[in-house]
Amino acid sequence: MAENPPGTGLRLPDDVPLVRKIGHELIEFLPVGVYLCNAAGHLTTYNPKAAEIWGEAPDLGKEPIRYTGAYRLRSENGAHMPFEQSPLAAVLLSKKPITNLRMIVERRDGSQVPILANIVPLFGMDGTMIGFMNSIQDLRQHAAQEQAQNHLQNALMQAQKMEQIGKVGGGVVHEFTNQLTSLSMSLSLMEREITDNGSEQLQARFALCREATDQVTRLAEGLLLFARTRPRVLERIDPNQLLLGMSTLIRNDVGQKIDCQFDLASDSNFLRANRQLLESAIINLVANARDAMPGGGQLILSTFNTLLDRSNFMHHNANFKPGRYVVIRVADTGTGIAPEALEHIFAPFYTTRAANKSTGLGLTMVRSFVTDMNGQLAVTSRQSQGTSVSLYFPCYGSEHSLAITGSEQKPER
Ligand SMILES: Nc1ncnc2c1ncn2[C@@H]1O[C@H](COP(=O)(O)OP(=O)(O)O)[C@@H](O)[C@H]1O
Ligand SMILES: [Mg+2]
Repeated sequence: MAENPPGTGLRLPDDVPLVRKIGHELIEFLPVGVYLCNAAGHLTTYNPKAAEIWGEAPDLGKEPIRYTGAYRLRSENGAHMPFEQSPLAAVLLSKKPITNLRMIVERRDGSQVPILANIVPLFGMDGTMIGFMNSIQDLRQHAAQEQAQNHLQNALMQAQKMEQIGKVGGGVVHEFTNQLTSLSMSLSLMEREITDNGSEQLQARFALCREATDQVTRLAEGLLLFARTRPRVLERIDPNQLLLGMSTLIRNDVGQKIDCQFDLASDSNFLRANRQLLESAIINLVANARDAMPGGGQLILSTFNTLLDRSNFMHHNANFKPGRYVVIRVADTGTGIAPEALEHIFAPFYTTRAANKSTGLGLTMVRSFVTDMNGQLAVTSRQSQGTSVSLYFPCYGSEHSLAITGSEQKPER
């Protein structure tokens, strides 16, 4: 009997029950499907993972089964393989291993599992072939991992694109602000004369110019901060006072049909942030809530303290540190967000509104700001019931709040 060349198969004792015993114990808990067949191609043992892939557990106590390794075995391109054409038959004939062969296991119910097969012939002590061992790897998880990897890759590319847009946009916005400053100064010079001597119509038109210029200036400043081309000024902020200070503005913004409530924790901690950006984040969230309640509803602005650790928080930001946080929450009783839309709402330019009505940058800016403040953001939403957006800021004075990059606001004299 010819010796099998080394490295091309396993040499095992010529004792089938022993092989079965060793095989069984070894393979029972492997995360890959493993099964053994004897020299006639009859199934002698298999592990639970193999049965899971096959979708059935062949009864070894009955007639010997010449199992192809599936109810139906198919090649990677879908062609049916009867036993005679299967790689198992090829191994029995050639006595050579087959490595990394992609195939499809078709189950009795018609469902299919892509697998990667590795078949090794088994030899007895005298060199005769006593069967083979086939390990089958379930590729479904692999496919899911590949998909997740692609998803990450896309997200990364999107982030890099945004960074590029941010850099280019930053330069353009600088140019805008310079021009806006001179426009604004000219308007200030004209203002006196127009209010003193101008007709009513001229005054009204002037007011429109002023308002539009101020709005564009605010927008440009917001974009500049977003593009991170300016050093940030940080302040110690009482979130309750901040919200109460904005209450008139918020009530005017949402109108009469929306009932506005403030639910502020009396012991609320301070936070450390850029005031202008925090205000603009809240205005953005309020505007979204307002638009989600066209027929009216309830807007609830709340503050509270909380302790975050890794277990109780799905952190959106890799920079997450457990500790004490103060939360500003904007909740509405509006339309809610569809589950499939939830993962997109922070993407730049994502919007469900008419193109000329919005930019789709609101939540992008809010998230970018919260991340910059070493904070966290959580959204919960139920369709037709409402949405709640919570901004988590590390408490003022905590190590995590001290680590926010920016310069401290000098106390005014
Ligand atoms: N409170 C909310 N209720 C329902 N949908 C919301 C809410 N906030 C945000 N959205 C959805 O997220 C999208 C993106 O919001 P945003 O980034 O602020 O851009 P924009 O407001 O310009 O559309 C909105 O178009 C809307 O579909
Ligand atoms: Mg918005």
